[in-house]
Amino acid sequence: MNGREPFPDLVMRPVDTNDLAAIIDAFRRLSPGSFYHRFFTITPDPTTLVTSHVARVGDRDHRAFVVLDGDRVVATAQWDRARLNPEEAEIAVTVDDAWQHRGLGRVLTRALASDAHGHGIATLSASVLAENHPARALALRNGPTTVSTDGPWARYTFKLAS
Ligand SMILES: CC(C)(COP(=O)(O)OP(=O)(O)OC[C@H]1O[C@@H](n2cnc3c(N)ncnc32)[C@H](O)[C@@H]1OP(=O)(O)O)[C@@H](O)C(=O)NCCC(=O)NCCS
Repeated sequence: MNGREPFPDLVMRPVDTNDLAAIIDAFRRLSPGSFYHRFFTITPDPTTLVTSHVARVGDRDHRAFVVLDGDRVVATAQWDRARLNPEEAEIAVTVDDAWQHRGLGRVLTRALASDAHGHGIATLSASVLAENHPARALALRNGPTTVSTDGPWARYTFKLAS
């Protein structure tokens, strides 16, 4: 990404206020399954969800990134600081269906962890649906510190090296 292997042609950068339409397009292109795994709901119009969850710019407790293939957003990733613990953040990653299974999720989560660490985050967490095998595989691949399940949820935490 950003000129480096394994995705030299993709550009990863923080979300900008001008990205909103392209991000909404990206979420409209997602398969219903991928959309549901990201937002835990189905909606014909993702505008409100995308605006409130991803495209919040300038909030010190939230950082979101887009991955661009030319003008097209092919992935998004974000961290949100926990309200009760400023050293913890919840992460979320979405990869366009056409780009899944190529290792982009792995590269993105590493870049996200590095950015969060640079902003004083010591622990990342991720809550995913237990049925979401790709996300669970990705979480396990990143070496979680804790893994717990609660009904339909699986939750992972990751201590970031200090
Ligand atoms: C979860 C998600 C981000 C993974 O992205 P990805 O780019 O496909 O992931 P990668 O290609 O980097 O694969 C990461 C690991 O997951 C595994 N994986 C990927 N797709 C898989 C699938 N369909 N079934 C099982 N495992 C899968 C890979 O084998 C890999 O494990 P490995 O390194 O041990 O081989 C992607 O599927 C997605 O965007 N899903 C919809 C949104 C979502 O669920 N987000 C997570 C909750 S916020």
